[in-house]
Amino acid sequence: MQPKNTHFKHCSSIEALRHEVCDAIVKSANEAIAQRGQFSIVLAGGNTPRAIYRLLRDLPMDWTNWHIYHGDERCLPREHEDRNSLMVEQVWLHYVGIPANQIHDIPAELGPIAGAKAYAETLAGVPTFDMVLLGLGEDGHTASLFPNHTVDNSADAVPVFNSPKPPPERISISQNRLNDTREVIFLVTGVGKQQAVDQWRSGVAIPATLILPKNGVDVYCYEVVLD
Ligand code: 6PG
Repeated sequence: MQPKNTHFKHCSSIEALRHEVCDAIVKSANEAIAQRGQFSIVLAGGNTPRAIYRLLRDLPMDWTNWHIYHGDERCLPREHEDRNSLMVEQVWLHYVGIPANQIHDIPAELGPIAGAKAYAETLAGVPTFDMVLLGLGEDGHTASLFPNHTVDNSADAVPVFNSPKPPPERISISQNRLNDTREVIFLVTGVGKQQAVDQWRSGVAIPATLILPKNGVDVYCYEVVLD
């Protein structure tokens, strides 16, 4: 049976998905800033969100109250082409006026243990996130929470070793800390994600099912059959 409070949304095209997610981010940001004076968003890594970040670049937005976090990061040098933080900088953050001290990259260049410790200290003073964006791997992983990989969920950020998705060493925000958010949006595109989505919808425990904050999650899907 489909997990409760998990809303799978079929998007008619990849452009529709990108614009619907971009609109949802803007709506959440405007509400958060109006109600609390700031908007904190945790960004997804990987390829799917790139075009959404590119859409955000052109918005007529007052960026000064945005706070940026990352759901996970690969343990690579900061300028390595596979860094999630570099991707986000190149397609979006370089072009908008979010204050540098409000962009919180994961210091994954320090390595998994030192980097996770440092990021946990960064997150320690951060209240409930307003929004968390997440991708989904073909094996059901999300952020860098992988099947058959146990992490210390009492920590806000955790080291990951032997990741099945290269590189092997990563840092992830933990399941518990990712769940401390007002909204979660998953971005799921490509036929390769079908099995993971089928498992998810039939109640099979994959890492993505660990992410279930009190307000539930929205899963935007394209090229994935939901009938
Ligand atoms: C990463 C991501 C990872 C990603 C999924 C989906 O650092 O690799 O955080 O969790 O979101 O693997 O990746 P795609 O969007 O490229 O399919």
